[in-house]
This record gives sequence, C-alpha cells and structure tokens, in this order.
Amino acid sequence: MIRTNKVCRHYIRGPQIIKAVDEVSLAIEEQEFVAVVGSSGSGKSTLLNLLAGLDSPTAGSIEFRGTTLNNLSRRGLSQYRAKSVGIMFQSFNLIYHRTALENVELALYFNGGSRGERRTQATSILERLGLADRMGHRPADLSGGEQQRVALARALVKKPALLFADEPTGNLDQDNATQIMALLSDLNRQGLTIVIVTHDLEIAGEYAHRMVRMHYGRLVDHQSEGHGGEA
Ligand SMILES: Nc1ncnc2c1ncn2[C@@H]1O[C@H](COP(=O)(O)OP(=O)(O)OP(=O)(O)O)[C@@H](O)[C@H]1O
Ligand SMILES: [Mg+2]
Repeated sequence: MIRTNKVCRHYIRGPQIIKAVDEVSLAIEEQEFVAVVGSSGSGKSTLLNLLAGLDSPTAGSIEFRGTTLNNLSRRGLSQYRAKSVGIMFQSFNLIYHRTALENVELALYFNGGSRGERRTQATSILERLGLADRMGHRPADLSGGEQQRVALARALVKKPALLFADEPTGNLDQDNATQIMALLSDLNRQGLTIVIVTHDLEIAGEYAHRMVRMHYGRLVDHQSEGHGGEA
C-alpha cells in the first residue's frame, strides 16, 4: 500500500547534519497493522510525517498505491492527506478555541457533505471513543487522555484508508488504552491500514501484526536487537 525507498529527512543546522530519518526502506501492505518503536529522537515522528505527506523527503521516495508522493503537485499531496490519510499527532494539534465536536467536524470540512452530516459523523465517532459527555469542551477543559481521544476521533472521522497515530495511548490509563487499541483493532479488521508509534512494547506486541524499530534515523531489524541478538 505504501512503500518507501531509501527515504531520508536530513536537517542542516550550521555545520551539523541531523539525519532524523536516514535511508529507510519500508513496505506496508493493505490492511496491515504496524507498530514503529525506538528510543526518543530516533526519528519515528519524522518518518510518520513523511508517510502522511506532511513533510517531504530530502532524498529517496515514497509510493502510495503506485503513486510516487514526491511527484505530486502541492494540490495532489493535499488531496492525498485529505482523502486517504488520517493522522493523530503526538502533540494532538487541536484547535484550542474550538470545542471537541467542532475540532472533529472541521476535519470533514473539505470532504463535502452537509453540516448535518458532519455533525452526525463527528458525534458518532466521539461517542465511540467515550467522549459523549465532553463534546462541548474546549481542549483546555479536557484531560490529556481526553484530548488524545479527540485527536484520534479527528483522524478517524474521514474514514481514511490509512491511519497514522503517534503514541495513541501515550496519555491513557490501562483501561482507556485497552479500549482504544481494541477500537483500532476493530477498524483494522474492517480494512483500515494502521501505523502507530508507541513506546509500549506490550501494546505493540499484542495488537500490531509487525513491529519495526528505529535507531538513530535508521530502520533496524527488531529480531536482531536486544536479548542474545547479534546486532
Ligand atoms: N525541524 C528540525 N530541525 C532539526 N532537527 C530536528 C527537527 N525535527 C526533528 N529533529 C531531530 O530529529 C530527530 C528525530 O526526531 P523525531 O521527532 O522524529 O523523534 P521521535 O523518534 O519521534 O522521538 P520521541 O519518541 O521523543 O517522540 C531528533 O533528534 C530531533 O531532535
Ligand atoms: Mg515523536
């Protein structure tokens, strides 16, 4: 479904080159559920932003269902983001002066449909995420875990083919984390391809079909890391 070929995102800071993502080649199949793990600063969020078309590689390429993202016009790329991709950011990126419901509705704004339809869809996904009685709250009046679920609702409301979620359970207690992961698993069984970033190896192991590990911007073979590995 999506494939990267030696994709790089290097930052130049004076004399220093920061290889946030370095020659990553990764292929994700339709309906896969992949977990990206790795230590802080290893390039996980940067990789996710590249895959989601929010950032452009400094070298290498990314292909989505046969279309090379590098070759798309600005408009083509924004269509890719609007129609195919749902993204939940590590920092949520909610609009602070809008309510939870409005934040989710806004994601539908450029996808056509009436105001009533947008409200129905936004309400339904917020309810599914356990936020029925928080829809009128602004982000500042929500807990961290609640903001996280609003961000996830916003990513899911467009019914994307591909979901990228950066630490979807990072601010949640065990119960809420299990609920969110069960919901993602359900959506995955219904056809949604999912890539999550997580620090929680238990969650990665339990819910993802496959784990990939980043280390200093590079993809390393998870099996060869750690206990008794040869890496
Ligand atoms: N705009 C930028 N300019 C320079 N360096 C950057 C920039 N954005 C990110 N980096 C660096 O790139 C590296 C990868 O950052 P990234 O946010 O992808 O890490 P991460 O794996 O998501 O970490 P975390 O688990 O802490 O979220 C880090 O060393 C970071 O400091
Ligand atoms: Mg990150």
